[in-house]
Amino acid sequence: MSKIEGLMRSHNCGELRAEHIDQQVTLCGWVNKNRDLGGLNFIDLRDKYGLTQLGFTEFKGDLEVLKKCHLESVIKVTGTVRMRPEAALNKKMPTGEVELAVSELELLSMSDINNIPFLPHGSVEATEDNKLKYRYLDLRTNKLQDMLKKRSEVTLEVRNTMASEGFIEVETPVLYKSTPEGARDYVVPSRVHPGHVYALPQSPQTLKQLLMIGGTDKYFQICKCFRDEDLRADRQPEFTQIDIEVSYATETYIKNLVTKLVKNLFSMKEGFDIPVMSFADAMRDYGCDKPDIRFGLKQYIVSDIFEGTDFGVFANAIKSGGMVKTMFVPASMGTFSRKILDGFVDVVKPHGGKGVAFFKVEGGKASGGISKFITDDVLSKLSGLEEGTEAGTWLFFADETSIVHASADALRRHLGKTLELCGDEYKFLWVNDFPLFEYDDGRFYAMHHPFTMVKEDQLETFMTADMTDPNGPLKDLCAPAYDLVCNGYEIGGGSVRIHNQEVQERMFEVLGLSEEEVKKQFGFFVEALKYGTPPHAGLAFGLDRLVMMLAKTENIRDVIAFPKTTTASDMMSSAPSVPAKEQTDELHFSFLKK
Ligand code: AMO
Repeated sequence: MSKIEGLMRSHNCGELRAEHIDQQVTLCGWVNKNRDLGGLNFIDLRDKYGLTQLGFTEFKGDLEVLKKCHLESVIKVTGTVRMRPEAALNKKMPTGEVELAVSELELLSMSDINNIPFLPHGSVEATEDNKLKYRYLDLRTNKLQDMLKKRSEVTLEVRNTMASEGFIEVETPVLYKSTPEGARDYVVPSRVHPGHVYALPQSPQTLKQLLMIGGTDKYFQICKCFRDEDLRADRQPEFTQIDIEVSYATETYIKNLVTKLVKNLFSMKEGFDIPVMSFADAMRDYGCDKPDIRFGLKQYIVSDIFEGTDFGVFANAIKSGGMVKTMFVPASMGTFSRKILDGFVDVVKPHGGKGVAFFKVEGGKASGGISKFITDDVLSKLSGLEEGTEAGTWLFFADETSIVHASADALRRHLGKTLELCGDEYKFLWVNDFPLFEYDDGRFYAMHHPFTMVKEDQLETFMTADMTDPNGPLKDLCAPAYDLVCNGYEIGGGSVRIHNQEVQERMFEVLGLSEEEVKKQFGFFVEALKYGTPPHAGLAFGLDRLVMMLAKTENIRDVIAFPKTTTASDMMSSAPSVPAKEQTDELHFSFLKK
């Protein structure tokens, strides 16, 4: 490939080798190290490609300039590549055989070394806040440059794979209308339409469906989504999706497509396939809909074993409609001191759990914790749950059902980490057969989003069942929806869509939207369904989470060039900020004083 001429340098800082000896080259970069060994000056010059040692024995220029080349200053040097003396060879450095004998030096940008917040190389000594505030400095580190590269490789691979399958990338608007995905909207006031706002899309869901109605057939887009929701280590208020929609596609087509994409992205072996688990099984066995299946520690619902027993905590939880779950940790996997066992309460507390009951078993005998409530009969029933329970620790969760699942899930994940059970591999899983609805606060909510279809054989029930009965048939309806899970993270989700106007209207009705509200919010969309809609299905990957997996990091901020904090602020630019009065006046809004 021929090089495009016009850069200020002839080579980069990671490029020079013995084969370049005697060549005249020009390098540019940051001063990474600056040594003055009694008149013998050396600089290590750095860019994202590597480091090159510069020697100044043949430098005839102004030595005063050299003194100003503080760490992180940007310089340009020209000189001759030469072999390093035997004693100075550095095998650990790719350019360690050579150095550049500098003849010309230009200080392009002097760094304010006295005030620089931190040096972005070696083991960076800076608080997380400072790293975010001076993100451009942190971005100079290999770690973040590698992440950016990985991210770029992923999007390139996605585009290649999708193009090879006949997909085209279509951009959809950002200034738009509410697209409900379960979060609050970010809104943008309009100057031209006083009192009106755009909503930034939580996803391009309705737009990609409209593209199907518009004949696009196979769509994808790498797009920004915006959600005002509580942030976590794997959530950002603005994040990127690889959004996909296909006309005439079945669930099987979407799964095959995703399997191909994942195989390419994660360099999986021939024959790679993704196992399937139902939502109900995932909740029962792992307490969550995104289980990490790299390790065991399966959970068991044991309410029947403890119903009516003397142990009040368990009996009461069951009596008041909750449940008891247990998990066995074999001694071969890990044993726990009293202090560690007591500390488990801190793991479950954020999930509403009040504690984790336990007892130990050795040689078939129960001891410690709640062992005095464990009769031989109970012990034998528990031992029958899985193989190899002769020695280890039984852990118990008793509370309202949702708290029990969440606590058991949290502790299982905690043990996966602390007992180092996770390994280094990628384990993918489809979670299927989601309920169509969740019931909360006296109304039904769509478990995925309101455009998700009902399973074919339940359509009749969906159209006719009593909407006011939280325990009626609507509760048991299942959605042809699927989530893609990797190592305990939900990295994608999708479904077969409603493509019929009456079904869509019924969905809004069940979700408690009045005719007026539907017309205002989704009138255009419902109308579009009337004029010939191909059945369609799709899915969206969370690109940031995909890259997190590939880069093996647990913090989404690591894979985003300019991320926000958990309070959705940008520490570098201080966004969000208070707008100028002229701006709010022009946008016709004023803040109410609280
Ligand atoms: P869903 O809401 O499941 O589905 O989102 C799809 C994927 O996007 C990622 N994701 C996020 N990543 C980072 N920060 C967030 N705040 C965040 N929220 C979601 C997750 C998730 O699996 N329109 C549907 C898709 C469809 O039905 O086709 C949708 O957006 O990895």
